[in-house]
Amino acid sequence: MKINLEYWRQNGPADKGHFETHTIENVDETASFLEMLDQLNEELFAEGKEPVAFDSDCREGICGQCGLVINGDPHGPEVTTTCQLHMRHFQDGDTITIEPWRSTGFPVLRDLVVDRTAFDRIVQAGGYISVNTGAAPDAHATPVAKPKADKAFEVAACIGCGACVAACPNGSAMLFTSAKVVHLGLLPQGQPERKERVVNMLAQHDAEGFGGCTNVGACAEACPKQVPLEFISMLNRDLICASV
Ligand code: SF4
Ligand code: FES
Repeated sequence: MKINLEYWRQNGPADKGHFETHTIENVDETASFLEMLDQLNEELFAEGKEPVAFDSDCREGICGQCGLVINGDPHGPEVTTTCQLHMRHFQDGDTITIEPWRSTGFPVLRDLVVDRTAFDRIVQAGGYISVNTGAAPDAHATPVAKPKADKAFEVAACIGCGACVAACPNGSAMLFTSAKVVHLGLLPQGQPERKERVVNMLAQHDAEGFGGCTNVGACAEACPKQVPLEFISMLNRDLICASV
């Protein structure tokens, strides 16, 4: 396949940035999107140009490191991670526009790489449980009802990729924050710190410059792990309880 690329170049957070173009003549349709970008960089390197910086780690849809806005959609035309997107979803001769996540909370470090440490700081503000050290407790010592265990597992699937923020017109990280708040709130081990957790994590969310949620729902549509909007309602219930 012949693919025309239009990709973002930015030399650090203070740089204005611009698009550059390149055509790859022989993209294998079985290649992944990141393999196609590897091919782009090989060609740029051969021409004596600077490769385009982009993030990835596992390339298996697990780590959440990869994240690109492809033709205007976070992670591209399929509901999956960028590393799990394949070139067979594009046509010969297509022009593909590639941009980094755009959000105040995610400053661009270089080209397509953004700084997502804001997510780490939100988790540090309360996305944990405090436990006494000592011998490991018996696995059956704290029973968890199956429906709650299933829900906690569903929401714990969030990989922190940031597509929800990139998709949201408000640049809100409420879907991510709700995932990190709710999966602990559903379990007995998460109860002692439940109220301060939601208050502190939301305060950190706002301090990082993420916008407020107005129930647009674009976050859940873009989420590669299909974290549903319902969890934002659960976070709001926790916040109301903590406030009263
Ligand atoms: S909620 Fe979904 S889109 Fe947002 S960070 Fe988690 S996995 Fe990514
Ligand atoms: S590189 Fe790990 S999820 Fe894409």
